[in-house]
Parts: sequence; structure tokens; C-alpha cells
Amino acid sequence: MPTDRTWPLNIPGLAYGGDYNPEQWPLETQVEDVRLMQEAGVNLVSVAIFSWAQLEPREGVYDFAWLDAVLDRLHAGGIRVALATATASPPPWLTRKHPEILPELADGTVLNQGARQSYAVASPLFRTYAVCMTRKVAERYRDHPSLALWHVDNELGCHVPHDYSEKAAAAFRTWLEQRYGTVEALNSAWGTAFWSQRYDSFDEVLPPRAAPTSLNPSQQLDFARFSSDEHRAHYRELRNVLREITQHVPTTTNFMMNTHNKWVDYFSWAGDMDVVANDHYLTASDPEAHIGLAFSADLSRGVAGGEPWMLMEHSTSAVNWQPRNRAKGHGEMLRNSLTHVARGADAVMFFQWRQSLAGAEKYHSAMVPHAGRGTDVWRNTVELGRRLKELAPVQGSRVTADVALVFDYPSWWGAEMDCHPTDALRYPEEMLRWYRALWRCGITVDVVSPQAELGGYRAVFIPTLYTVTDRDAARITEAARAGARVLITFFSGIVDEHDHVRPGGYPGAFRDLLGVRTEEFHPLQDGETLTLDDGSRADLWSEKTHLDGAKATRTWAEGPLAGLPAVTQHNVGQGSAWYVATRPDDAAVAAIVDQVLTEAEVAPAVAGLPQGVEAVRRHAADGSRFLFVINHTDHGVDVPTRGRDLLSGHNIADTLHVPALDSAVIHEH
Ligand code: GAL
Repeated sequence: MPTDRTWPLNIPGLAYGGDYNPEQWPLETQVEDVRLMQEAGVNLVSVAIFSWAQLEPREGVYDFAWLDAVLDRLHAGGIRVALATATASPPPWLTRKHPEILPELADGTVLNQGARQSYAVASPLFRTYAVCMTRKVAERYRDHPSLALWHVDNELGCHVPHDYSEKAAAAFRTWLEQRYGTVEALNSAWGTAFWSQRYDSFDEVLPPRAAPTSLNPSQQLDFARFSSDEHRAHYRELRNVLREITQHVPTTTNFMMNTHNKWVDYFSWAGDMDVVANDHYLTASDPEAHIGLAFSADLSRGVAGGEPWMLMEHSTSAVNWQPRNRAKGHGEMLRNSLTHVARGADAVMFFQWRQSLAGAEKYHSAMVPHAGRGTDVWRNTVELGRRLKELAPVQGSRVTADVALVFDYPSWWGAEMDCHPTDALRYPEEMLRWYRALWRCGITVDVVSPQAELGGYRAVFIPTLYTVTDRDAARITEAARAGARVLITFFSGIVDEHDHVRPGGYPGAFRDLLGVRTEEFHPLQDGETLTLDDGSRADLWSEKTHLDGAKATRTWAEGPLAGLPAVTQHNVGQGSAWYVATRPDDAAVAAIVDQVLTEAEVAPAVAGLPQGVEAVRRHAADGSRFLFVINHTDHGVDVPTRGRDLLSGHNIADTLHVPALDSAVIHEH
């Protein structure tokens, strides 16, 4: 039996498909589904994600006959299956019999049956039921020839990232005992000498439930870590059952790696995945949502450690859960899909195959829409299948980047906590501000954790790395000494992993690296901006910074800090370290990025492309290079390259023309 579980079994080329919920449809529709999947070139579908109540309609009474027939039909049609554990939504009989498995909010509100994911992940009883269901599914389908991949639960922690119930309290105490060993160590880590919070035993500790005023921040940070770990523990438990029964079948679960889903630290989960999978949905109100998409894809690749990853869900057109659900524009779904592939995805999947007629998601687009085959959505579904087939040679190739952007979930949690210098800081906004500037320069970026090996990068951008360990700070410093250009922005290196301030002047962990010392923060009011000496403006943040080895590249032109540094640069070893002690406007961010990239001698994948045209390269082990060009503009663009256009089959002698709103992939030579 092969044990290389790094990719869905027996999928040649790229994987294409979506969530398939046949239990919502009569038999004749299910028969038609397979025909239509073949027409669209679908080769992989995720099945049984929300099927618990159908598979076990009463406790201990199982009905697998319908799923047997579905899998047999898919197999006969040549379609492979990512089979779910069916545990994502406990059935009504279970929550009725055991309401104690339900989760609770911080104010004690119980989250009831009637939607989905109504379980407390720390409930040992729920976990026993979930393990039992997983075992049943795995034992039944272990040898089914359609089985390509196991899909554990669904978007773990999506709706209930934190549970504050008694089950969670008990598990939190156990987690804390393991982390700290003694209650004295906990008291010291949480700074409980403050406000009479000293604990005499672990039994006294609670989750950060609703309280009269601000909760202990170290407790909040640890509760966020615990909650992420608890979901991971649940994942591991189910995965271990699957591994025990089928050693050769890889396991995944769908992550939500983006700038909205804050509460699962995916970097810490990465080692538990056979294959990393992501779900991504555009933010309809964002006119540059395609840049957010590129960020999510680069983050997925970062979490996957550079290995190919799966886009497990996105949408063919509108979703149903944003305030205004915009239908995708001309060519948008195809551009979205190819952007994910350009940035390392070897699978493009959707939620969902066929648009539901009932239930909360009936207005969510699908591959087969309500209006049927005579639609743009269906034509795009078929066209995407055709394109992905042509892109088979790309499979397994890698994206390489000279630039890293450091993204850290605990810093997101920490930086946005209450009782801070400003309540207006949003960690993802700071991340996207620098990412967008790099994207506009056409620079390919690896989005990595602070624990990543930074040695190979020419430039490293580190926005608001609020919480940092000594080790990570040392690694970052070492990267600069070894030759990287490291740029760090305000409110970085302020606290250690317990949310204790590093004393002696900010930014404590990076003072020496940056050659600056800040004595006090001066956050700005809503709408307030200040001018810098280059004429640009900045908002949100300023601080009283002094040079201590660095030179000022920009100073404040007005306000209480006039004349003091706002942006600095410090030569260290073979490299240099930049500090941005404020939030500059987009033009200034672009100018700073340009300076850093010039110093670092980093070039875009293709020089001179107009704004709105994206180019990324993937490299295969045999030396092949694939250039992806995605044109988000409404005019055609000429790109200098030569090779074979994989989508049209044409040979390109020196110039590729990419029409408005279209994409191309060139096998370069
Ligand atoms: C995801 C989820 C899917 C579906 C989709 C709709 O979060 O995994 O089951 O609900 O969103 O956009």
C-alpha cells in the first residue's frame, strides 16, 4: 500500500469539482449530476459533509444505502471522492438527547440546534459521538474505489470559534496545567498581581466570560490559543481514526485563511495536514477583492510550506451571506480560479455543485445554477473544466518568492485587544496595506509565520507583529544581518508571548535591530492626519521616537512630534532594517516599498505591466516555467514572453496578448 499521503489519490493533473450534496435531490437529478460533472470535466467532489442525520437517522440506526449508491455512481462516471466524516452538524436526536453538548457564548447564551455546527468542541461526549460516526464512515468506505481523500468535519471553528461552557472551562484548565505546570507559573504569566486576580488553584480559572470590565489580556490570549488548539485536537482525533483504518488515504480539512477569520492559528495546524486546503470567498464590497484573493492564496501556500494546496471552496458567482451579494462579473470566476492556481493551488473546487432549492444557502451560487445549463454560470463551469485540463502540466510545480510578508495569528489576537492606545487598529488592514503595495509592484510574496525560515528572502515585511517571542525576534534580526531588507511597522515587538510589555522603550524586541527608541505612543483621533516632511500624510498612529543608530528617512512636518522620525532606516550586518512608526497613506507606502525593493534588488515577475494586470510564475522540478497572466482591466494587454500558450495551444514568439478581463498561462521557453 503506498503511504505517500500528500495528494488526493489517483487524480491526474489538477483537481476540479465542488461540494456535492446529493441527499438534497431525487434520484433522477443525481443521475443527471454525474452526466453534467462529466460534461464539465469534474474529477473530484466532496461528499457527505452535512450528512450525519441522513446516515444515522436515529441513534445507532444507520442508513448507508443511499451513499453507497452515490459513490458507486460517481465511481462509474470516473469521478473521485473527498469523503467527509459527516460530523460537521450533529443531528437533532443527538442534541435533544444530550443538550449538554451544545456550546455557549461568553454571556452564557446556549447555541441551539437548527442551524449547523451546534456542538461544543471540548465536549468529551460530542467527541465520542463524532469519533464513532467517523469510524462508521471509514469502515464502510475504506475500500471504495472512488475514495481519494478524507475531509474532516468542515471549516472547524467557523461559527463557534470560542465556547465558554463548563466543558470548555474544564478543558481550558487542563490545557493551562499542561502549559504552565503550576498555578504560580500561571499567575506570573497572566500578571495576576494586578486587580487581585491571583489564583490559588487551577480550579478557580474560568474562560474569559462576560465580566464587569476588561478581562485579563493574557487570559484572553491563552483562551484564543486554547480554542484553536481544541479544534485541532478534535481534527487530530478524527484523523487518527481515519489513518488507523486507511493508512494510504490522505486527510484534510478546509481552512479559512483570509483577513476575516481570525480565531484559528492555521500555521500551528499545518504539520497535522496531509494536504492543506483553503476556502475563499470574495468580499463583494471591495473593488480590489482580487488582491484580497491573492493574499489568501499566498497565505495558503505559506501555511502549506510551499507545497501544492487545494482550493476546496469558492463561489461560481454570488454568495448569500454578505450584506449585498454581488454576482461575479464577466470572466471574474475564471480569473479568480486561475489566480489561485497561479499561486500554488493544484485543485479548484466550489461550494457547491448544484444550487439548493431549500435551506439557508439557496441563494448561494453553484456550478449548476437554479436556471440550469443555459446560463453564463454553467458555461463558465464548463470552460473552467476545459482550462484546468489544459493546465495539467502545471501540477506539482512551485511558486518561488524573493519577498516574505510575516503574518501571525497571536499578533492579530493581541494587537486588537481592548484597553490599547487606540481601538481603531485592525491587524488585517495593516497586513493588506503592505501586501497591496507589493501586489501593485507585481512582486510575488510568500505570506509566512514568524517561525518561518527567513534566510532565503531578499526583503521581509513585518506589519504590526505585536506579540513576539525572543526566538522569533532573534530570527528576524538574523535575517537582516545576513542581508535581507527587513521592514517593521508600528506596534511591533511590544509584548512577549504572555502579553507582557518589553520595558526600556518601544519597540522592545526590535529596538536594537531598528536602531530607534520610542518613549511614548501618540495615537491619532478618528479622521485626524499629520503631514510628513515628504508631503505625504499619515493617520491612526504616531509615536515619540528617537534615533539610536538609525537615520530618519521621513520626519514629522507638523504636530507635537514635528522634526522627530516617522520612518527610519538602519544598516545592520549585510542588510538593513526599516521602521515605519506610523500609518502612511497609500502613496507613501508605495514609495517606501519601492525604496526597500530597490535596495533589496527585487524585480517583478514581468516588468512594466499596467496596473491591474497580475503575473506570477510557477517552476517545475524539470526546469519548466509557467507564467500566469491575469488581466483584471477592461483593456487588452501585451506581455513580453515566449513559449506555448497552454489555454489556446498557440505558440507565442515574443509577445502574448491577453484580452480584457481574461487570463493566459504560458509554458515558457
Ligand atoms: C463555507 C462552508 C460551506 C458553505 C459556504 C458558503 O463557509 O464551508 O458549507 O456554507 O461557506 O459560502
